[in-house]
Parts: sequence; structure tokens; C-alpha cells
Amino acid sequence: MKVWSIVGQKGGSGKTTLALHLAIAAAKDRKVLVIDLDPQQSAERWHAIRQRVTGAKDDPSIAAGPYQKLPDMLRTARKLGAELVLIDTPPKLDKAIIPALKAATMVLVPLKSSILDLQALEDSADLINLAKVRSKTAVILNAVPTGQNRESAIKESLRTASRLKLEVVPERLSELQTFSQGLRTGRGVTETEKNGTAAKEVSALYQGLWARDDSEDARE
Ligand SMILES: Nc1ncnc2c1ncn2[C@@H]1O[C@H](COP(=O)(O)OP(=O)(O)OP(=O)(O)O)[C@@H](O)[C@H]1O
Ligand SMILES: [Mg+2]
Repeated sequence: MKVWSIVGQKGGSGKTTLALHLAIAAAKDRKVLVIDLDPQQSAERWHAIRQRVTGAKDDPSIAAGPYQKLPDMLRTARKLGAELVLIDTPPKLDKAIIPALKAATMVLVPLKSSILDLQALEDSADLINLAKVRSKTAVILNAVPTGQNRESAIKESLRTASRLKLEVVPERLSELQTFSQGLRTGRGVTETEKNGTAAKEVSALYQGLWARDDSEDARE
């Protein structure tokens, strides 16, 4: 069972958007569970909308609760045969973050390219180093501008990540309205615009991450 924890010390970096889109893309052919450790419960609220709109389908499933319940939730996920668990976490330094980092087979850090986001990456890096999970951490460039400043934004983000010795995956998610629009109606871009740019980016990212996470879970 792969466990991908999505973390970042900057609010609004795209953690929940990323968790839900990866979950929907993966749920097409795998059993997927999203664990919402954020007290804002955005993922759990979104799931309620999805169930209403799509007729109570449970793909992906969702579980929410305090971080103390994380081991129980993971045990249940394993028992139910989940192949992928995505853990959405709160933005601020919170007691939930370290357990989520420790439980992960891969740690995902979405990074937007504003100066504030780049500065906050240092705080995320500190946390990642503290939990000793740098080797399994992947930064994902998110909301990459689609205009003429795209290349400079990418360069700047890569430079910041490299300075902090964090690896960046080659797949990017562009700044596209569709990422938020679909979620409003309980759907992801791979469902609303199957052949659109956003859907292609999410699919490529999901495939890339799946191939990258070669963890052997001894308890499988
Ligand atoms: N690739 C993208 N393109 C356009 N907008 C995006 C993209 N990714 C995220 N957003 C927007 O950025 C905002 C914050 O995203 P999201 O809620 O996923 O971040 P978060 O890290 O979970 O926030 P929080 O820290 O509050 O939990 C939302 O309005 C979302 O629609
Ligand atoms: Mg969130």
C-alpha cells in the first residue's frame, strides 16, 4: 500500500486540490482512500458534495479524524485492500504533520511560484529534515503560470528547491481555472475535461509518482 502525504507550510499551496485530483485519477483503476487530517476538513466536505452529485459513489473513499487516529485509519485501509492512501494535512505547523510524514511512502510538497511560496519552502524543508524524510520527498511545481513568464517561474522554483536540496518531479501542474471549477461540483479535471491540458497534466503526474514510489510495504 502506497501512502502519499501532502504537506506544505504555506496555506493555499494546493495540497487539497492535489490530493483530490490524484485520488480521482488513481481511483479509475485502483482502490484509493483520502485521509483528511486538516481540521478545516475541506477534503471531507468536498466528498459530501461529490457523493450528492455523483450518486453516492465511493471512489475515492474518504476518512477524516484527528491525527491520533491515523494508525487506525491506515490499518483499516490496509485491511480493506487500499492500494493508495493520500493524506491531506493542515498548512500550519500542527501535531498531525510529523505522524503524516512518518507514515508516508512518499511525501509530496506542492509549490506555487510566488515569492511568498518560495520563501515558505524553507519552513517545509526544515520539517522534512526534522522528520528525516527528505529521501522520499518530491516537490511538485503547482499553478505554474501559462503565459510568457512560465519558464522564469519554473527556473526560480527549481533554484529554490535545489538550494534546499529538495527533489522536484518533472511533471508540472499549470495555473488553470479548471482545477478549482470541477472540484466545486465534486469532480476532478480527469472527469470534467478528459482531454484537456489539466487532465493530461494530472494523469502524467499520477503515473510519474506511481512509478517513482517503489516502496516495498512489509505489511502488505
Ligand atoms: N494548479 C492550479 N491552478 C489554479 N488554481 C489552483 C491550482 N492549485 C490550486 N489552486 C487554487 O489555489 C487555492 C488553494 O488551493 P488548495 O485549497 O488546494 O490549497 P491548500 O494547500 O489545501 O490550502 P490550505 O493550506 O488552506 O489547506 C484554491 O483556490 C485552488 O483552487
Ligand atoms: Mg487544504
